[in-house]
Amino acid sequence: MLPSLSCPACFCLGAFFPSLLYAQSLSLSPSPSRAGASVSDNLDPSFAGFGIEPSNLFSFTGWNDANNFSIRLLQNLADYSGAPPHIRVGGNTQDYMIYDPDYQDFGWKRNPNISAQGAIAADSMIIGPNYLAALDRFPAGTYITYGLNLAYKGSDYLDRIATHAEAVVNNLKNTRLYSFEIGNEPDLYLENGMRAAPWDGKIYTEEFMERADTVYQKVLKPAGMASMFFEPPGTASTIGTTFEIGMLNNNGILNQMNGEYYVGWWNQHDYFYFIGVTPTPITLDDLMDMDQTNTQFKYWEKQVGIALDTGVPYVLREMCSVGPIGMHQVSDTFGASLWTLNFFMYMATLNVSSVQMHMTDNSNASAWQPITKYGKSPFVRPNYYAHAAVAQIIGNGNGTTQIGALDVGDAGGDYTGRIRAYSAYANNALQGIIMINSKQANESVSNKGSFTFNLNWGAENANKKIYLSYLTAPGADSLTGTTWNGITYSDLDGTASVVDASIYQLELDGNGAASVSVRDSEAVVANLDWQLGTNKVTKVDGSTTSGSRRKNSGAKAITGADTAIWTAILISSLSLAASLGSL
Ligand SMILES: *[C@@H]1O[C@H](CO)[C@@H](O)[C@H](O)[C@H]1NC(C)=O
Ligand SMILES: *[C@@H]1O[C@H](CO)[C@@H](O)[C@H](O)[C@H]1NC(C)=O
Ligand SMILES: *[C@@H]1O[C@H](CO)[C@@H](O)[C@H](O)[C@H]1NC(C)=O
Ligand SMILES: *[C@@H]1O[C@H](CO)[C@@H](O)[C@H](O)[C@H]1NC(C)=O
Ligand SMILES: *[C@@H]1O[C@H](CO)[C@@H](O)[C@H](O)[C@H]1NC(C)=O
Ligand SMILES: *[C@@H]1O[C@H](CO)[C@@H](O)[C@H](O)[C@H]1NC(C)=O
Repeated sequence: MLPSLSCPACFCLGAFFPSLLYAQSLSLSPSPSRAGASVSDNLDPSFAGFGIEPSNLFSFTGWNDANNFSIRLLQNLADYSGAPPHIRVGGNTQDYMIYDPDYQDFGWKRNPNISAQGAIAADSMIIGPNYLAALDRFPAGTYITYGLNLAYKGSDYLDRIATHAEAVVNNLKNTRLYSFEIGNEPDLYLENGMRAAPWDGKIYTEEFMERADTVYQKVLKPAGMASMFFEPPGTASTIGTTFEIGMLNNNGILNQMNGEYYVGWWNQHDYFYFIGVTPTPITLDDLMDMDQTNTQFKYWEKQVGIALDTGVPYVLREMCSVGPIGMHQVSDTFGASLWTLNFFMYMATLNVSSVQMHMTDNSNASAWQPITKYGKSPFVRPNYYAHAAVAQIIGNGNGTTQIGALDVGDAGGDYTGRIRAYSAYANNALQGIIMINSKQANESVSNKGSFTFNLNWGAENANKKIYLSYLTAPGADSLTGTTWNGITYSDLDGTASVVDASIYQLELDGNGAASVSVRDSEAVVANLDWQLGTNKVTKVDGSTTSGSRRKNSGAKAITGADTAIWTAILISSLSLAASLGSL
């Protein structure tokens, strides 16, 4: 056995022979039982979700005809995890939309008679019942977080929001309405002309409460639905903001109004990188440096902690590697898929309850392209394969999957920031180990390096078998050829087929140990006793779970704002030209 890492001799050796610390291997000994391990809450089967920009909804659902390619891709994930991925329909364009019950097209139209304020007017798009009928084509039981328009403030604004909310409640029958988000990134309303000064988190809190109260009293209450059904978006910008979660809490957003609590979740948005906002350039190699993701997320990590301290769950409803619409040869590569897998695991360890990867039809970061764009027919991007991996990891535990971060501090040298490992528990016992090697090795490199994970599963697992599932592709820069667990997904109809039926199996030794080598630019999930995806997954029936996920109603007040660290400011308004232009 190697000496323990804290032994003083190791430090001396390290000081004199630093290369010893940079050996291309690492030992991991996760606790074999849940007791003694630091792990997440149970992951919800719909945890790894998607956001869809409202102006682009029909590209994903289809217009008169259903987009069966999208629906199949969502259903695959539902079959793996036990429930469909959670969908947020929201983004800048939610704040441009007016619901007209008489507008019968499958599509949206430009309002011919705009009266509202805004760089793009808050009433510039009209949708009708078939917007909801199209959304309702998604797999049965799909949770929908629906973004309502907060920007619109014409004299009939309360009637408008209630009419819209009522239509959503009445028309989503196959899918399941989970929550309403009120307004998209309201902290940026001064920039996009949706509000004039004075505008701050305090005024926003009042406007949010008034709308939530109206929707509850007029729509939810008569329908017998819960009041804690609303998600206020916390700040999207880190600079000079008055919209941080602690500030909104101090403004009383968690308090009652007319005897009801309205906030069920803290909702936030982030992007790892945003073109035109993040000041430095980005390369695929940066995206694959997972330390950079931790650095970018540091500020948000604090917000997660503040949110959870209030007793209200935190959801990351808009996220992406590169915004507003991705970057060719970065966000659409296999390297980005490794980023996606790591990001979901990382969020799980923070107890973020749900993550929505944002999609537009023209985004090179979307998990699939749903219609013809850029002269290319619909196709599945490598990112989708990371969703498939996460869905199988979650489904493998039948709703009991919990994720822990494993210490990879010993991966130094060329592997600094390139190695991540997570434990997966099911039924309170160690079930799997997720290993990621994001050191960049492109397709053209013929002899790729590898990193060895020396795994110790504990004596209780001595002589048992582990099965390896690979998230792989020819290289980090590959745009095609990704497989997960030997599976590929059809660009024609989204169906899965097995292209590598080999069973990668190792036997643990008498101490429960085995070494797994992971190629540069590859991830492997080792699972105890069976191959991931081969067991039945218990389907989750959402029929009794509508309403709030709020864990307790006694919200703690948070005082004092955190100092904002300069990370990327998120002005996803930049995406609006792109998303509006695409229809
Ligand atoms: C996540 O939740 C679990 C279960 O409630 C808890 O034990 C763990 O400490 C939490 N982790 C974080 C980072 O909040
Ligand atoms: C999509 O699938 C449904 C149900 O299987 C089928 O009725 C419909 O014809 C399909 N639509 C297209 C455009 O293929
Ligand atoms: C346009 O809107 C104004 C007020 O918002 C209304 O008085 C007028 O009738 C509308 N015109 C049409 C053609 O709908
Ligand atoms: C997206 O990728 C395609 C190639 O698949 C490329 O033609 C297009 O220019 C890219 N668009 C953006 C906005 O990066
Ligand atoms: C999940 O449930 C299925 C039966 O529905 C069972 O075969 C499988 O072993 C269970 N998996 C775990 C990890 O409990
Ligand atoms: C690997 O591919 C990426 C994306 O095409 C490219 O930017 C990078 O320069 C390549 N790296 C090497 C070492 O070839």
